[in-house]
Amino acid sequence: MIDRYCVFGHPVGHSKSPAIHSAFAEQTGEHLEYTAIEAPLDDFAGAWRAFVAEGGRGANVTVPFKEAAFGLCDTLSERARRAGAVNTLILGGNGLTYGDTTDGVGLVRDLKRHEVHLAGARILVLGAGGAVRGVLEPLLTEGPASVRIANRTAAKATALAEDFGDLGTIGGGGFAAVEGPFDLVINGTSASLAGDLPPLPDALFAAGATAHDMMYGAEPTVFLRWAAERGARPVDGLGMLVEQAAESFFQWRGKRPDTAPVLEALRRSL
Ligand code: ATR
Repeated sequence: MIDRYCVFGHPVGHSKSPAIHSAFAEQTGEHLEYTAIEAPLDDFAGAWRAFVAEGGRGANVTVPFKEAAFGLCDTLSERARRAGAVNTLILGGNGLTYGDTTDGVGLVRDLKRHEVHLAGARILVLGAGGAVRGVLEPLLTEGPASVRIANRTAAKATALAEDFGDLGTIGGGGFAAVEGPFDLVINGTSASLAGDLPPLPDALFAAGATAHDMMYGAEPTVFLRWAAERGARPVDGLGMLVEQAAESFFQWRGKRPDTAPVLEALRRSL
């Protein structure tokens, strides 16, 4: 039976993961099948079990199942444990399910590809939801000078900062208290989806700063346009998407795909 992989989501029709992983498989000569599966909202564990029974060896997990996936794992990576969410399921030879989250590694790899120096950097992260929680551990272990989390609901940012306080200098609060300059500003809110911009001061960016938005599209997001007008270099979330996929692929197959041509093709298809 062919090794099967999939992305679980709801909805999942828009997912780029099948195209990305099929390209990785072709490039590395791995024989596998990767599809998109819309799991029922009330029984994610059942969907995973049914997939395993049909030859499933691993899966990516996207909205809204990352917490449900976390809940069904027999073992977890440290970064998944801290994130409280899983985007990669791996079926072990013993039949146990191992969970990891590769979003943060994907973000860090993409930033490095753009030659962003994380060690010693002053970083501002916008948002305090699941997307941000998922990337904090890999960011903090790169040794930034400081990480500040700013969120519309200030208490959520403060609570998140407390959860990760043992990994480095990290603080949290509302947008109103934000004071630049920052070397890197990462937008992990879903505000871009609605075309909204968090209320931020104009003097946010240090010279040579980078602005990263976890969202992507054919056009730059509102946040990236705003940042570019203030001198920051804009980087959207497409590279992070491809890099997190590459890390999942590595966990499953032990091979690291070359992400550059896959990212280029994906960019052209937007
Ligand atoms: P995700 O899993 O994508 O992180 P989430 O957990 O619902 O989704 O979190 C969404 C994040 O985007 C939150 O930080 C949210 O702010 P609140 O905690 O105050 O709700 C933020 N967000 C959503 N829409 C926003 C907007 N229009 N302006 C600013 N922040 C917004």
